[in-house]
Amino acid sequence: MKGIILAGGSGSRLYPITLGISKQLMPIYDKPMIYYPLTVLMLADIREILLISTPVDLPQFRRLLGDGSKWGLKISYAEQAQPQGLAQALTIGKDFMGNDAVCMVLGDNIFYGQGFTGMLQNARRNAAQGRASVFAYPVQNPSRYGVVAVDEQGAALSIEEKPAKPKSNLAVTGLYFYPSGSWKVAENVVPSARGELEITSVNEHYLNAGCLSVERFGRGFAWLDTGTIDSMMEASAFIEAIEKRQGLLVASPEEVAFRRGFIGRDALAALAAPLCSTHYGQYLKRLADGE
Ligand code: G1P
Repeated sequence: MKGIILAGGSGSRLYPITLGISKQLMPIYDKPMIYYPLTVLMLADIREILLISTPVDLPQFRRLLGDGSKWGLKISYAEQAQPQGLAQALTIGKDFMGNDAVCMVLGDNIFYGQGFTGMLQNARRNAAQGRASVFAYPVQNPSRYGVVAVDEQGAALSIEEKPAKPKSNLAVTGLYFYPSGSWKVAENVVPSARGELEITSVNEHYLNAGCLSVERFGRGFAWLDTGTIDSMMEASAFIEAIEKRQGLLVASPEEVAFRRGFIGRDALAALAAPLCSTHYGQYLKRLADGE
């Protein structure tokens, strides 16, 4: 399975900050925002990753992530010259995906909670068997998101993009698993009323074909928004509270790479060394030392 991170967009809701830097490179507490979706893919054991961003921002992502080999990954890059909607990522990624299934994650989505890795592995198995998966989360303001309604068994009944009258409080999060050939579905998507190639139209296709699974995150799970400066600060405070309380890092690619066996202990120690002036690097050093 391949992975796609979509980190495009102008970030206009964060102006003037994002006039000078991509939103997805901004900090969420102690690390760049992009580390959070990147580690989601790593937890799904996905090691071949395409990062899609604007021509202006791509060089900075390259500087941060490189070719991914330091974390046992293979990261490549593609341009989204004009942001025309999330479904466009699947057509941009057509050659990269080939005949493989894919997991796409939005570069500004943060997921945190117990049992997450198991849900990812489950969705991965479903994709290998021809089923798409979306992940739903109860929110107070569903009209801002894609919204999915489900029946008593949890099967999807409808999926709509930013409905004025939402049929449920379940937002569709920015994490999608698709079986092989999803780019063909995306190619047939027509622009919505707001002029975008909606990922919701791709999901609707799988719903109509009877092969869309809806995984639900419970109330003990955190799906955090980074859309506005306030929600970004709240997400940072959340991560800070968890990390300080537990003495662990959330969403460190170095740690995930080590724990999942993508890199060995010596490689982890070498990654930790230049970061040793921060708690982030000191944590990695302790991990490498086996403490
Ligand atoms: C996009 C999708 C929406 C989804 C959301 C998750 O919305 O169109 O379906 O719920 O991401 O973050 P956007 O953030 O582009 O408004």
